[in-house]
Amino acid sequence: MEQTLIIVKPDGVQRGLVGEIIARLERRGLKLVGLKLMQITRELAERHYEVHRERPFFAGLVAYITSAPVVVGVLDGPRAIEVTRATVGATDPVKAAPGTIRGDLGLTIGRNLIHASDGPETAEREIGLFFRPEELVSYERAVDGWIVEE
Ligand code: RTP
Ligand code: MG
Repeated sequence: MEQTLIIVKPDGVQRGLVGEIIARLERRGLKLVGLKLMQITRELAERHYEVHRERPFFAGLVAYITSAPVVVGVLDGPRAIEVTRATVGATDPVKAAPGTIRGDLGLTIGRNLIHASDGPETAEREIGLFFRPEELVSYERAVDGWIVEE
């Protein structure tokens, strides 16, 4: 099994889309193993988006992600990173396929509703930035055998 970090960004929370967005990932079969509402500090935002530090959109991105509360979660499942990215859709909602979260609910790249880790190393790093180990819960669901062949 693999784990990935998601952040329902401030626009998702403000627009009342937390349930809608998380429901799409739950319906996929992914299991929530961590979840919380929080406001991201500038310091945490700068660490999370460190790879984009030199990009022209960096200041706007940090301002956006720290502007209001977010909901952060950890999803667990087979190939959870790739499955979550595919469900989220392309970075720019204009290019995101209909049926994806960004393709159905978003319009512009600067308000694209959700973050999802893009690879195993980033997922591990990002989960560590947002969650202490004891905040992640390991549990079985009765339905697991109907989602993943054993
Ligand atoms: P994310 O990290 O938020 O899951 O998004 P992503 O992998 O699909 O895209 P990434 O390249 O990592 O960009 C991070 C976030 O920066 C904002 N962005 N703005 N104005 C622009 O050209 C631009 N490019 C990226 C978006 O909010 C994007 O999600
Ligand atoms: Mg990214």
